[in-house]
Amino acid sequence: MTETDPENQNPSLLRRIRARLVPDAHPADDRGRMRMVLDSLILHLHPPKVPDRTLKWTYTWGLGGLSAVLMLILGATGAILLNNYTPSAPQAYLDILELRSNVWFGELVRNLHHWSANLLVIIAVLHLLRVFLTGSYRAPRELNWLIGVGMLLLVLAANFTGYLLPWDQLAYWAITVGTGILSYIPLVGEWLSRLVLGGPEVGASTLLNFYSLHISFIPLLIFGLMSFHFWRVRKDGGLTLPRRIDETEEPRVERLTTIPHLVRKELVFALVWIAAILIFAMLVPAPLEDIANPGLSPNPAKAPWYFLGLQELLLHFHPLVAGIILPGLAMLGIFLLPFIDINTASVGIYFRSRRGRSLSLLALGLAILLTPLWVLLDEFILDWSAWLPSWPSLITNGLIPMTVVLLPLILIDDWAQKHLRADLEERILFLVIFLFTAFGILTAIGIFFRGPGMNLYWPWLMPEVVH
Ligand code: HEM
Repeated sequence: MTETDPENQNPSLLRRIRARLVPDAHPADDRGRMRMVLDSLILHLHPPKVPDRTLKWTYTWGLGGLSAVLMLILGATGAILLNNYTPSAPQAYLDILELRSNVWFGELVRNLHHWSANLLVIIAVLHLLRVFLTGSYRAPRELNWLIGVGMLLLVLAANFTGYLLPWDQLAYWAITVGTGILSYIPLVGEWLSRLVLGGPEVGASTLLNFYSLHISFIPLLIFGLMSFHFWRVRKDGGLTLPRRIDETEEPRVERLTTIPHLVRKELVFALVWIAAILIFAMLVPAPLEDIANPGLSPNPAKAPWYFLGLQELLLHFHPLVAGIILPGLAMLGIFLLPFIDINTASVGIYFRSRRGRSLSLLALGLAILLTPLWVLLDEFILDWSAWLPSWPSLITNGLIPMTVVLLPLILIDDWAQKHLRADLEERILFLVIFLFTAFGILTAIGIFFRGPGMNLYWPWLMPEVVH
């Protein structure tokens, strides 16, 4: 195209917008045209201008963007793995062996897929936490919060279904224990467990069920929801504006063009993370044990690590309480959060207020102190079933310990309300940080401190059990 082209004399709307937003825009040749296509793609994802404040790393920590990068790595590596995998036992295991030794970069692709999947669980939870701590789920972002919760559940489902595919001992028994939790659901538990497993236990049908869910339904749904999630961020007026704790007035907003200011940062961030994950995947192989053997259960048999908090709860409470009531209440709370905690005045402020910050520290400290203490007490001293032998176990092993755990929380909440004059949003902050930290500690105990027989043990004394 030359300078005398009619298109140049009468530039298109897109070209005119671009010329105003991107200072060095003059796409006269092929490279320029390529850039224009790329820019308009970027401007589909982002608004043309963004507030300079939202570009600060220390606000979002790039966690949503990193979740998206991980999803892309998973999609790309998953598509490659698909070509070297047969979803039937024992061929599935043999395919993984073949992939590791005889397929070019096969092991690297598998490692990348494995580590990205596990990292995604952590990063998506941290992203949820960032959104919570800055109150960014409040109006008008309620729907996007709900979509986010849906995506997190799907990410867990994708991880869980993928866990079985290598068909090794680790996969077989983790899924056996994990799906075992389902059967605790009253009335429909057994039926649901059979439906998921495709039979009475983990077997060929389970592998096929999990494989088809893992490669089609779940990823399609996640990518679909992701597009909707990004669109909603734009539709809701972009990210919430970060504000300091003592900033009472409306913040002064200066807007910068997305290209190059935001895009350059995103690109550097994505490339650094991709490089780090690549190096990690080159150095640390994804685990692969012996081929699955339904007759030989490992000791201990643990669920996948992200369900170990739940498995730990099951060691302390009646299954109805640990498997249904507590997780059900937690999920309900997460879903309802944007409709209960509605004060938009503190949106964008980490920890809401000075009092909120102190309460958060208190919640963190108490959870770190009380959770291991309670685990030890319950393991070695409290034995309600032995003390009240004629009472039903739902009471001795369920309602009594649940009251013992929840009562102090209710008392602290009452104290914070009366003596610190904490308002609803600060009390919710306290409660969520306490419960979140406690669940994290239970998960860590399940991962590191449960040994043979699911007894407590010191990992550095492996394989000895300390009591
Ligand atoms: C695959 C999982 C996810 C991806 C790829 C993703 C991606 C993103 C991105 C890129 C942003 C904008 C930048 C940022 O905040 O980092 C964002 C914002 C947001 N996300 Fe997510 N997200 C995911 C999961 C979640 C979850 C689990 C939640 C909460 C339950 C959530 C709720 C939100 C909300 C409410 C916003 C708007 C925040 C604001 O305006 O400050 N997302 N997400």
